[in-house]
Amino acid sequence: MIKKYLAVLGRLSNVSLAELTSQFGESVRKIGPNLAVFESDKKPNINYFGGSVKFGELLTTSPVDYLLSLDFSGKFIIGISDYSKDSNRHKSQAEAMKIKKILSRQNRSCRVLANSEATLSSATSHHNQMGEKPGHIEFLKVGREFYTLIGVQNITAYKNRDQKRPMRDAKVGMLPPKLAQILVNLLGPLPKDSRILDPFCGTGVLLQEAALDGFSVYGTDLSDRMVEYSEKNLNWLKKNHDIKDFKVEVGDATDFQWSLDIDGVACETYLGAPMSQPPLEIKLKEQKQECSKIILGFLKNISVQISPKTPLALAIPAWLRPNGKYERLNILDEITKLGYNVEKLNHLSQEDMLYFREGQIVAREIIVLRKK
Ligand SMILES: C[S@@+](CC[C@H](N)C(=O)[O-])C[C@H]1O[C@@H](n2cnc3c(N)ncnc32)[C@H](O)[C@@H]1O
Repeated sequence: MIKKYLAVLGRLSNVSLAELTSQFGESVRKIGPNLAVFESDKKPNINYFGGSVKFGELLTTSPVDYLLSLDFSGKFIIGISDYSKDSNRHKSQAEAMKIKKILSRQNRSCRVLANSEATLSSATSHHNQMGEKPGHIEFLKVGREFYTLIGVQNITAYKNRDQKRPMRDAKVGMLPPKLAQILVNLLGPLPKDSRILDPFCGTGVLLQEAALDGFSVYGTDLSDRMVEYSEKNLNWLKKNHDIKDFKVEVGDATDFQWSLDIDGVACETYLGAPMSQPPLEIKLKEQKQECSKIILGFLKNISVQISPKTPLALAIPAWLRPNGKYERLNILDEITKLGYNVEKLNHLSQEDMLYFREGQIVAREIIVLRKK
């Protein structure tokens, strides 16, 4: 049955919106700066989406009727997150107290989680196991609509995957697992027996996330040290998760012949030298040339090795300039000439597809391509 869902988008909501669109198609609509709704016949699992922090399912009854319909007889713990335009902490708390009062008239006990704002933070929802533990129910309110929380970003799992993997490298291995998930999702819905290639695999963050999604993964990298790191990290993941077999090997992405069939390519390409301040003009020019050469060389090399319509999701570098804006590589025209179409998602412009932390010097521009 097709149902309506609400997504509370994380930081950089445009990239998050693109992620949802690539999985749920044109039903995805942005309804606020960090809110989107979409329809699906499958319950979305937040654990597979790097760009959303909460998912809710539209209620067709009142919150109280919903609570009373549950097969649960203990004490409810409830929370209200009001995402409406005119929301505030007091209104949201009052709404929760109203529910508590009606429940108590029905001899049902209930504790209301205190809000310090109109909405509960995803950390509060996660730590209180809202939507997860029986009776721990959070309602997401938007205007007159109520959604029940069906998933909140699992901060603990992300932290563990990022910090507990045995092999890390501060210079290359800083791809956040959430961005890795976004890149994998930007490939669109793929059959679970698909194989995803990361030709700049580094320490294997993207391979890890794609493997957890259920895909077969194949990683290559110029550096034998990085290939060894990826292999160790994937073997570590395999100890606690049921992941498919994987392959990693040394290869220069600009001339390598990949030995396995490839159904999708997702990667953070070479991003140039790490930087702690905006580069001087001459340095920037040199970095842009070096990165363009490697990225275009890779796209030219792989174009004859993949089938038409194969999707590719790439994070490529963009550099912060003294005026506070990011300078991009601007290689989309050249990429098109190599036999790829640049995908547009949810009417977002390419300018919207930047992923960075405040003040970060080397940002990532996300491009989604499809082999013609
Ligand atoms: C920004 S890092 C990617 C980090 C990676 N996402 C991770 O999870 O650690 C870029 C990687 O590209 C590799 N690299 C650079 N030039 C390459 C080339 N021509 N072919 C293949 N890999 C290359 C580097 O060794 C480095 O590991």
